[in-house]
This record gives sequence, C-alpha cells and structure tokens, in this order.
Amino acid sequence: MSKVTVIGAGNVGATVANVLAHKDFVKEIVLLDIKGDLARGKALDTWEQAPVDYYSTYVRGSEDYADSAGSDVFVVTAGIPRKPGMSRDDLISTNAKIVTSVTNSILQHTPDPIIIIVSNPLDVMTYAAHKASGLSKTKVFGMAGVLDTARYRAFIASELDVSPKDIQALLLGGHGDTMVPLPRYTTVSGMPVTDLIDMNRLDAIVQRTKKGGGELVQLMGTSAWYAPGAAAAQMVEVILKDEKRIFPCCVKLDGEYNMNDVYLGVPVKLGKNGIEELIELNLNEGEQKLLSDSAKHVRDVMDTFDGMGIL
Ligand code: NAI
Ligand code: 2OP
Repeated sequence: MSKVTVIGAGNVGATVANVLAHKDFVKEIVLLDIKGDLARGKALDTWEQAPVDYYSTYVRGSEDYADSAGSDVFVVTAGIPRKPGMSRDDLISTNAKIVTSVTNSILQHTPDPIIIIVSNPLDVMTYAAHKASGLSKTKVFGMAGVLDTARYRAFIASELDVSPKDIQALLLGGHGDTMVPLPRYTTVSGMPVTDLIDMNRLDAIVQRTKKGGGELVQLMGTSAWYAPGAAAAQMVEVILKDEKRIFPCCVKLDGEYNMNDVYLGVPVKLGKNGIEELIELNLNEGEQKLLSDSAKHVRDVMDTFDGMGIL
C-alpha cells in the first residue's frame, strides 16, 4: 500500500488529497503546509468524510517533513496563486524560493521520490525542482497538460453537446497562453474533430483553452482548483497503479522535438517509475513552430529564474 504527500494545503493541494482519498487505494496521504493547523484541519475534514463516502485512505495534516518520509509520490502545490491581472509568470519571485526549499526538504527524508510539480509558473517551477533535486527527469515533472487538455475537451463537448468522455485530445507546450492545442490529434469517438466543428469555431475553442486559467481567475478572483486537483490526483493514480497511460506532462527536453534544456509539456507514458517514455510526434511545420514559440517563452522565464541566483 502506498503513501502520498501533498505539499501545500490550499485550494489545489486539499483537492488533490480529497480526490485521491476518494479513489480509495492509497494507504495514507500526508497533507503538509507551513500552516500546520490548516493542513491538520483539511486532513481531518477529509478523514471525517471517509465513513460517508466509503473510503479507507487515512489523511493526516502536518507541517513536519519527517511525517512525509518514505512517500512514493509527492505533489507540490505550495506557493501563491495568481490574482486577476497577473500572469502565471508574475508568481516566479515568490514561488521559486518556495519550490526549491520544498524540494530540498522532501529529499532530506525521502531520497528517491517521484515529485509532481503543480505550482506556477509551472514549467519553470518544474525546472527549479528538477535542478534542486539532482534526480532523473523521469522522477521530477509537472502537471499542466492533463488540466489544459481537460479544458479543451470540455469546451469541445459543450460545442457538440456530447459527453466529455468521448473527446480524446492532445495539447503540447508551456502552461500559459503559448500552449499548443492540436486539432489534428483531437477526435470524438474516433472521428476527427475537424470533420465535426468548422475551423472558425475550433479556433475559438483553441483560443479559449489557451486562456482557460485566466477565465477562471477573472470569475473567482483566484485560480482554479477542482480540475487542477483532480488532474494531479489522476497522475498519482496512474503512477501508483502502474497504468502506463499517456498524458502530456511537463518534462525536460534533451534533443526531443529538436529542443534542448527546456521544460515543456509533451506526451509521456506514466507508470510506476514515473515517466517511462517520452513520445515524439511527427509535428507539421505549423505545429512545430507553435511549440518552438512556446519553448522560447518558457526559456525566457527560465532565464529570469537563473538570474535570481536561487540555485
Ligand atoms: P493556495 O494559496 O490556496 O494554497 C497554497 C498553499 O501553499 C497555502 O496553504 C500556503 O500556506 C502553502 N505554502 C506556501 N509556502 C509554503 C511552503 N514553503 N511549504 C508548504 N506550504 C506552503 O493556492 P492554490 O490555489 O492551491 O494554488 C497553488 C499553486 O498551484 C499556485 O502556484 C497556482 O498558481 C498553482 N496552480 C497550478 C496549476 C497547474 O495546472 N499547474 C493549476 C492551478 C493552480
Ligand atoms: C490554471 O491554469 C492558474 O495554472 C492555473 O488554472
């Protein structure tokens, strides 16, 4: 039976713990936050939900990394979320220090974990954690593509008035306005989406997806948590059950897609070893150009992080 630690007991972290507990296959979840009582309160609330919703996963709150020792997977949601008018990149000065110190604290008690980064700006926080950890890139990667693809799929389901279950799609690139939804790799029960939605409507859906995080920040005054939390929990489940499913995840590229030393969302196979395969698609010229533009944007923010002298 496995153990999972979620760092950050805010909106996203508490949702990851709650969704994962409902899946009822993890022995223990530690919800860890610098605000120990917040973590203990949300953990206790989720444990008190167990008799109602019928799961056995124990959820414990803490501010002490000793309690996280031996966890199979860590999900890092610690940091500040954005407010209306902010981009994800505006969070870097605060979150970079938090994510690097969290990574170091994890490793003090668990030398060989799998770490899923959620904190923003996602691609650069994945870079920070990967660099701080010294671990293989197959063990430290970021969650964004599962969420961004889910938004894209939900919008297509609404457009066609069909179940989201029947929408298969893929989205690459950074977690920001330069992300690259791929209509050519989008199907509805096996039918190409381009046969079902005209290009103007599809383009509007792509544009809405790119700004999907911002749409929710405008509505709520802070960023989303239900879909992000569920997306991270799904990655944990796939890893711990060794399901070998293929999702877009943020990972360091070393020559793949003709790019080096940049962290971007690409399709990977997830299993018990973390990233077990990085899949390279035959992108057409237009798609490759969009991905390169996205990489350039991420690289600029990576340079900002490097300039901060944290690592
Ligand atoms: P939140 O403010 O509700 O929760 C953040 C929590 O982190 C707080 O409880 C805070 O006390 C805790 N924290 C701060 N410093 C810490 C430290 N050093 N150690 C442990 N805990 C610490 O924020 P929310 O909405 O949960 O978002 C968390 C992060 O996730 C944000 O950076 C947000 O932008 C990002 N996010 C990323 C998404 C993605 O797709 N990758 C989607 C949604 C949010
Ligand atoms: C989101 O996409 C803000 O990254 C967060 O909802």
